[in-house]
Amino acid sequence: MLKKQLLIAALLFSPLLSLQAQEVKKLGTETAQQKEQRMAWWTHDRFGMFIHWGLYALPARHEWVKHNERLTNEQYQNYFDLFNPNQFDPKSWAKQAKAAGMKYAVLTTKHHEGFCLFDSRYTDYKAPNTPAKRDLVKEFVDAFRAEGIKVGFYYSLIDWHHPDFTIDVMHPQRPENGSDSTYARLNKGKDMNKYRQYMRNQITELLTRYGKIDILWLDFSYPGKNGKGKDDWDAVGLLKMIRKLQPSIIVDNRLNLDEYEDGADFLTPEQVKVDELAKFRGKTWETCQTFSGSWGYYRDENTWKSTHELLQLLIGSVSKGGNLILNVGPTARGVFDYRAQSALGNIGDWMKGNSESIYGCTYAPESFQVPQNTMLTYNPTTKRLYVHLLDYSTRVVLPGYKGKVKYAQFLHDNSEVKFSADGDNSLALSLPEKKPAMEIPVVEIVLK
Ligand code: GLC
Repeated sequence: MLKKQLLIAALLFSPLLSLQAQEVKKLGTETAQQKEQRMAWWTHDRFGMFIHWGLYALPARHEWVKHNERLTNEQYQNYFDLFNPNQFDPKSWAKQAKAAGMKYAVLTTKHHEGFCLFDSRYTDYKAPNTPAKRDLVKEFVDAFRAEGIKVGFYYSLIDWHHPDFTIDVMHPQRPENGSDSTYARLNKGKDMNKYRQYMRNQITELLTRYGKIDILWLDFSYPGKNGKGKDDWDAVGLLKMIRKLQPSIIVDNRLNLDEYEDGADFLTPEQVKVDELAKFRGKTWETCQTFSGSWGYYRDENTWKSTHELLQLLIGSVSKGGNLILNVGPTARGVFDYRAQSALGNIGDWMKGNSESIYGCTYAPESFQVPQNTMLTYNPTTKRLYVHLLDYSTRVVLPGYKGKVKYAQFLHDNSEVKFSADGDNSLALSLPEKKPAMEIPVVEIVLK
């Protein structure tokens, strides 16, 4: 009997014990408060631009084309030889990001294909050796900084070009149902130690040559049989080095260091629906999303999201307490696709009138129910509540809001919105017949 009780107690408390064990497992000495301070600008700004650009812009059929079509280095070589982005104008990229209200930008300095947009000493497989003839990362950094946009680097842990990166389940040259001995044969002579050193060298270059880097987005781990995880990257050593080189940098969670309390700064739910973001409440996260289905430029992919859908992603992310990074895949000429340009412009039009419901905002306190067909955000500093009208109607019931509201107005023009009692507990907003010229109008509620 006693034994059984002990067993139950052990079962009940084991999550706590393991939690405690996790809490103890730390790489550094930063306190929770210091972390919050380090990340304050990022959690405030909420909205960033992702840029996936590399040789895969030439085939223009997904940034995983080398994997998808099992292309060899030789077959991929044309894209390197012909990479000539003669319309690359990062100043125009930066202006478009800024006009859209994006406060930070993260560029793929190297994606899984292994091609480097920067002038690395450790490889010849880089933009300066293509017809582009220069360090494109440097120009990106200068242009975005000049617009006051924070600068981030994406760096792929995976490398399908480096000779010492061992062939694994993701690799373009992966065997069909490979046995251990097949992998061993394919990887004969490859030395991951050399690749680990290569990554350290390149990340050092990225973090020492371009001034202050605000974000590092490492991608990604797939531990398990014939996969790769923290030990393959020496993730612990790498992260320690990163923090030493750039103490205030913000690092994503794809190094496979989940067991460490400080193994990552933010979670990265990818291409998820707004509803699924609810489960991250209270955590620090950024959802990454595309305008259409792919990250790299994909000529024949046509599932572009509407402005309404994009705004819902932005508002929805903030309403669940996180950030949104929206991706652009520039063409091989170096410009944003016309659909991306127009979407960015439309987001900008909305942000001009409504950014106060995004920056510095988060989910509304529990005591405020979400009115039908709306999304709520809340600014804890100004204590203003924002009702986003997804489906416009002239009357919106605020359930249970009686006695809580001092004043209401449209956010884009500060025009008064009248309200009256609705039943015992609720209020109803009276909105004009004609929907304001905002894709998603926002009512700002001044609380009592
Ligand atoms: C993925 C993909 C990739 C993309 C990234 C962005 O894991 O491998 O192509 O860069 O996520 O989140």
